Amino acid sequence: MNELNYDYVENFLYENIKRKSDFLESLEKEALENHVPIISPDVGQFLKFLIASKKPKKILEIGTAVGYSGLLMLSGSEQIEKFVTIELNETTANIAKENFKKAGEDSRVQVIIGDGLEQIKKLDEDFDLVFIDAAKAHYQEYFNEIKRLIKPGSLIVCDNVLYKAMVTTDDLLVRRKKTIVKRLRAFIDEVINLEDFESSLIPMGDGLLVAVRIK
Ligand SMILES: C[S@@+](CC[C@H](N)C(=O)[O-])C[C@H]1O[C@@H](n2cnc3c(N)ncnc32)[C@H](O)[C@@H]1O
Repeated sequence: MNELNYDYVENFLYENIKRKSDFLESLEKEALENHVPIISPDVGQFLKFLIASKKPKKILEIGTAVGYSGLLMLSGSEQIEKFVTIELNETTANIAKENFKKAGEDSRVQVIIGDGLEQIKKLDEDFDLVFIDAAKAHYQEYFNEIKRLIKPGSLIVCDNVLYKAMVTTDDLLVRRKKTIVKRLRAFIDEVINLEDFESSLIPMGDGLLVAVRIK
C-alpha cells in the first residue's frame, strides 16, 4: 500500500490503466522484481494523459532509473522531439541507455549521467514538461533551477512529494526521515504559493505535485 489511499482504491486505480506494449510490461515487471523504484501505474497513466493534452515537444526528466517512466512517456507520443533524462547512478543509467536502444527510442533520448542539480545548471534550452523523480531532499533546488528552462504554459510534475504520507502527518513520520520530510513540506508550501505558477497536490502514487507556469 502507498499509505495515501485505501488498498481497494489503489488496486482499482492500478487496474484501470491503458494496456502497455509487451516491452514496457516486461520492463515494469523486471524493475519491480529487482526492487528498482519506478512510477506507479496511476502516475504513469496520468503522465500519459498530460502528454496527450499538452503535446510537449521537449521533456526533461530528473531520475531515469532504468528508463521505464521515460519509455512510457515516449510511447505513442510521436510529437516528442527530445527527451533529456538525468541519472546519478552510472550502472543504472547504462541499463536505461540499453533499454531506450532496445525500444528504438535512442535517437530522441539523451541520457545524462550525473547529479540532477549540477546537470540541470548546465542546461540552456527550454522544456515543455519536466518530470522530477530523483532525490526528494533536493526538489526545491531542482525546481528553482528548472524555472530558468520553462516558459508560461509549461508543466513541472514532481513525484513522491507526500513520501509515504509522512509529509501529511507526524503520526507516520520516522525519525531518520525528518529532514527530507521537513524539506518536502517547505517545498510544497513554497510552490503552491508561487505567483507565477498554479499548482495542485494529488494523492496519487506517492503523492504528485503538478505545477503549470502561468507567467
Ligand atoms: C524513483 S527512481 C526514478 C524512477 C524512474 N523515473 C521511473 O519511474 O522509471 C529515482 C532515481 O533517481 C536517481 N537519483 C537519486 N539521486 C539523484 C541525483 N542527485 N541526481 C540524479 N539522479 C538521482 C536514483 O539513482 C534513481 O534511479
